Formats: sequence, C-alpha cells, structure tokens
Amino acid sequence: MGSSQTLQLDIQTCKAEQLDEPLQITEGAIVLMDEASEQTKNKSVTIPPLQKNIIKRLFGERPSPEFFRSHRDSIYCAFGDMLRSFTRQLKFLNGDKVCGLGFSSKSNSGDGRLEGKVALITGGASGIGKATAHEFIREGARVVIADINKQLGEQAIEELGSQAHFVHCNVELESQVVEAVDFAVAKHSKLDIMYNNAGIAGSPLPSSIADVNLDEFDRVMRVNVRGTMAGIKHAARFMVPKKSGSILCTASISGIMGGLGPHPYTVSKFALPGIVKSVAAELCQQGVRINCISPCPIPTPLVIGQLAGFYPSAKEDWLMKMIQGLGELKGTVCEEIDIARAAVYLASDEAKYVTGHNLVVDGGFTCFKQLGFPRPDQVE
Ligand SMILES: NC(=O)c1ccc[n+]([C@@H]2O[C@H](COP(=O)([O-])OP(=O)(O)OC[C@H]3O[C@@H](n4cnc5c(N)ncnc54)[C@H](O)[C@@H]3O)[C@@H](O)[C@H]2O)c1
Repeated sequence: MGSSQTLQLDIQTCKAEQLDEPLQITEGAIVLMDEASEQTKNKSVTIPPLQKNIIKRLFGERPSPEFFRSHRDSIYCAFGDMLRSFTRQLKFLNGDKVCGLGFSSKSNSGDGRLEGKVALITGGASGIGKATAHEFIREGARVVIADINKQLGEQAIEELGSQAHFVHCNVELESQVVEAVDFAVAKHSKLDIMYNNAGIAGSPLPSSIADVNLDEFDRVMRVNVRGTMAGIKHAARFMVPKKSGSILCTASISGIMGGLGPHPYTVSKFALPGIVKSVAAELCQQGVRINCISPCPIPTPLVIGQLAGFYPSAKEDWLMKMIQGLGELKGTVCEEIDIARAAVYLASDEAKYVTGHNLVVDGGFTCFKQLGFPRPDQVE
C-alpha cells in the first residue's frame, strides 16, 4: 500500500483536493484533474444514486453562496458519505496510492460527544437513521445498523466506514430484535444507545375511518409500535444491569396533532410518547434514560414513496420541494441532519438528566394554528 493521503473538500468552490492531484466535482461525476495541464485525465467515477438529490441541489439549481452557508453541514454530511464510498474507486484510479478522507472544517470532525459509546439504530439503512448513524460516528460512537433492507444496509455501512456494522432485522419479529441487540453486544461488548427508528408510513391514501383496513392498521402498529417496544425491552436487558443507557425512539408530529397522516400511522405515532413516559417511569429507577424525537416532514424515501402513491405523475424534485415547503420556519428547511443532531444530544451525556421527553423538531409547526379571520375589507 502507498502512503495515506487526505482529500479535502472546499465547499465554497466545490473542489476536493488531494495532495498532489486535485479532484473536481462536476455534475454527475468526480473527475481527476491534472493540475499542471488543467486537463482532465479522462477518468471519472459515477455519483451513486443515493446522493443524486444533494447533487441536484448543489449543481442543478446553481446554488448561491447563501445556500452553501445555510446547508454547510448537510453538504459535509452528504459529501462525507459520497467521498467515503469513492475511496475504493479512487484507490483504483490512483494506482497504489491510498486516499484517506479528511476535512479541515471543525464541522466535520465531531467533538467526541459520543466517544467510546456503542449504538444500535433500527431502520438505520436510510433517511433519518442513516444520517444519525453518520452523526453518531462523527461524534466518536460505534454503530450497528439493524434494518430489514439488506441491500441498503450493506451499502450504508460501506459508506459509513469501519465504525459501522449491519445486521439484518425485521423489527416486527421479536426474535430478530433479540438477535440484533445480541449482535451489537457480542461485537462491542456493550450497548449504550438504542435508537428505535424503523418505521413505515402504511397506505399512501388516507382513508376514511369507515374504510380503514384493519390488517393494514395491524401492520403499521406491528412495525412502529410493537417493533419499538421490542427494541426497548431487549436494550433494557443490557442497560438495566449496567444502570446506564440512553434509549431513543422516532415519533412524529403526526403523533402530536390529528389529520397529518393516515389513521394507522397517526395512531402509531401517538403511541410512542406514551411508551416513552411509561417506560421512563420504570427505567429512571435504574439510571436508564428514554426519550423520543418528533420530526416534521423530511423528504426521505419513506415520505417521497408515500406521496408518490398519492401523486403518481409527480417528479421527485417536485415532491421534495412540496414537502420542504410545508415548513413554517422561514429561511431554512428540515433535514435528516436536524433529527440526527437531536439524537446526538439525547444520546449524549449532555442530556444526562433528560428522560421521558418528546423533543419536537418541527420548526414551530405544531406550536400554533392561525385563526382564518377575514380582512377588514372583506366584512359583509
Ligand atoms: N421523514 C419524515 O418526514 C418523518 C417524519 C416524522 C417521523 N418519521 C419517522 O422516522 C423514522 C425513519 O423514517 P425515514 O423518514 O428516515 O424513512 P426511510 O424510509 O428513509 O427509513 C426507514 C428505514 O426503516 C427500515 N424499515 C422499515 N420497516 C422495517 C422493519 N420492519 N424492520 C427493520 N427496518 C425497517 C427501512 O428499510 C428504512 O431503511 C420512521 O419511524 C418514520 O415514521 C419520518
């Protein structure tokens, strides 16, 4: 193996520099540049489909410097994943040289808030769970992703690097949750953080209560509620004897107000803060904390998939914009990383006295409802 080198990404110019061969990130490809001649070497690697959205947002819409500033951390997050997954190909392109990955910015080297901790994240192969795995690792944790989707799970750990492992798990089946928890403990000899995040949205079409399909209701409850209970139950097996641990669950703003989703999903998400309170009552006697996070809509595959069923002719870009347009907090949008950071806080010792809490990350969405008063000139 050759000497280890560092790739440094400059988000202002979109250039990732390697020691002697600068890389230029262009739409659809990373191209190796020959610095002296300024000619490309006709070598490129294709950007994986997972990163297409961020690339589109970066390059497709000719973003302003303001865009870079306000999305700085998500861009680091996306490019960090992307570059990590390119390491092997870059090794190949560069002959015997090995490319390491590094960032000069503080924002990509965490502060060690989860140093030495071991986390298990269900539904960690995609969306919020995957972004959280990334943040946990950035903060010094080792992560096991437990997911029903083997292909996405394996892809995720390849991108996340050596601090991530994958275990196949359908949270509907208690035996598989047991196996996932046992796998994490066997691998790392302990479990500090259990994030019960796996969830499904259920049918894309919100049906009337008169038409609700009870089999569908059972399925959503099995994944979102029973799966979470199973995760809590089996994490507690290891945490209680140690008298420490942090359990997290992903609830939703659909569990705070009615009418934001189909009945089965809404009911399932209302159950989660209840579970958290009930379990906190017992586990605080044992020194174990449990909290949940309630996100507002984020265009993850779960939400895009659900809305694509509702708007079959809509393009993904349109759906993304529509979802992001639902937010109330002006000047920004809710992204996976916002939930990941809430999870880092709750999982870390900074939240050492926080338990039984529902951390709502919704930009104020559930804080108010406006009265639709007519304007004075509309009085009849
Ligand atoms: N995206 C949002 O707008 C939003 C808002 C509020 C709450 N949530 C919640 O966040 C959580 C994560 O969703 P996301 O938006 O990241 O979606 P996502 O589809 O990107 O990720 C969900 C992950 O869960 C996995 N999964 C599904 N069923 C499973 C099962 N039975 N066992 C194990 N893994 C399973 C999927 O394979 C996937 O990797 C869910 O609980 C969801 O309800 C999402």
